Amino acid sequence: MRVIIYTGKGGVGKTSVAAATALRSAELGHRTVVISTDAAHSLSDSLEVSLSGTVQRIQKNLDGIEVDIQLELETRWKEIQAYFSDFLASQGMDNVSAKEMAVFPGMELMSALFYVEDFHKSKEYDVVVMDTAPTADTLRLLAFPDIANWYFDHLFHMFRNALKVARATVGRVVSTPLPTDEFLQDIEDLRERLRYVRDLLSDPEITSVRLVVNPEKMVISETQRAYTYLCMYGYTVESIVVNRILSEGISDPFFADKLEEQRAHLKTIDEMFSPLKTFRAGLMPREVLGRAALEGLADQLFGDEDPTKAYSLESPMRIISGDGENRLAVKLPFLMDQKLELYTRKDVLVLQLGAFKKSIVLPYALAGKKLLGADLDGAWLTIRFEGDEVVRKKEKGRRGRKTPRKAR
Ligand SMILES: Nc1ncnc2c1ncn2[C@@H]1O[C@H](COP(=O)(O)OP(=O)(O)OP(=O)(O)O)[C@@H](O)[C@H]1O
Ligand SMILES: [Mg+2]
Repeated sequence: MRVIIYTGKGGVGKTSVAAATALRSAELGHRTVVISTDAAHSLSDSLEVSLSGTVQRIQKNLDGIEVDIQLELETRWKEIQAYFSDFLASQGMDNVSAKEMAVFPGMELMSALFYVEDFHKSKEYDVVVMDTAPTADTLRLLAFPDIANWYFDHLFHMFRNALKVARATVGRVVSTPLPTDEFLQDIEDLRERLRYVRDLLSDPEITSVRLVVNPEKMVISETQRAYTYLCMYGYTVESIVVNRILSEGISDPFFADKLEEQRAHLKTIDEMFSPLKTFRAGLMPREVLGRAALEGLADQLFGDEDPTKAYSLESPMRIISGDGENRLAVKLPFLMDQKLELYTRKDVLVLQLGAFKKSIVLPYALAGKKLLGADLDGAWLTIRFEGDEVVRKKEKGRRGRKTPRKAR
């Protein structure tokens, strides 16, 4: 299964490009589903079909869904939400607030991700096209499996401890509703599922993120930042879609400055995002609505190519060993004004870039090794760890000593 995620600044054309991709993919015979994760859905408007919170057929080889958080809460999250709201109410919160508070951050994001998991497990589709909300929300969605893991870890321990204490005080009246074993199992299942989704999303053979831009300065800057964060979260940014390019054929003097500006921005995009595969589409004379218009957009973007192809399989993280040092290389293409901090905690490396944080569980070769430093070379940050050889030498030295250090 291929997962293609379109992201970008508000209004650049994500929904239109996602719909055009899904239509073309279906025409090429791939079993395709297009999923909108933007709470302000516009996929229905774009395709001129009415979509809902359940998967429905659009045409041959093409299904669609607009994730409906209210519906998700009533179905998928019923048990968990019920327990949380009982728990909060037992702590003195009034019922209405308890119900609202029980919608913990990220539930709606998680629902969207679980659709991807369901689609992968059911093997119903060859291609999943995701139309997402503007950048900030989408970064939250894509960082979610990582953050949620931390959240659930703590939640799980908290409830398990509460249960232990409560069981030890048998016979006493406990005012707090106790989490049942089923509830704890639910939380454990959630963690397992998030891990599954994370593996899907960080596999370049499966998931590609495509950046949609317009030839405008502010759009380009936001896209550069998004590209960097996406790499940090382990996503393969595989291509860039330059949408709404004004035709050079316009001779009206009103557009002369605009065209000159655009030329400079197009050049910047080429230089900055090279060697990423670039798809291009011009500004159409009318809004891109309905299948015929979307077909026209797909023609411009993809020509005869299959838009579901993976144009890059480069993972933004890799391990390099040798010269007595182990290194972890992380692609961070545009470090702009954000502050970057690095530290290790047990077998986890934490990368904090501006307001975004990524915890990388270190692979066996690097776990427990001392962090030596980091160098930035072009788009790659190379983080150096003490190497196997150095560690082995130390161990040998220790074993060779006649009196153990402690005794001395
Ligand atoms: N190449 C184009 N030429 C002309 N109009 C376009 C083009 N691409 C998109 N549009 C139009 O621009 C508007 C915004 O496009 P779209 O909804 O696809 O953007 P979006 O990035 O999904 O927006 P949002 O961030 O609000 O979700 C729509 O009316 C769409 O029809
Ligand atoms: Mg949209």
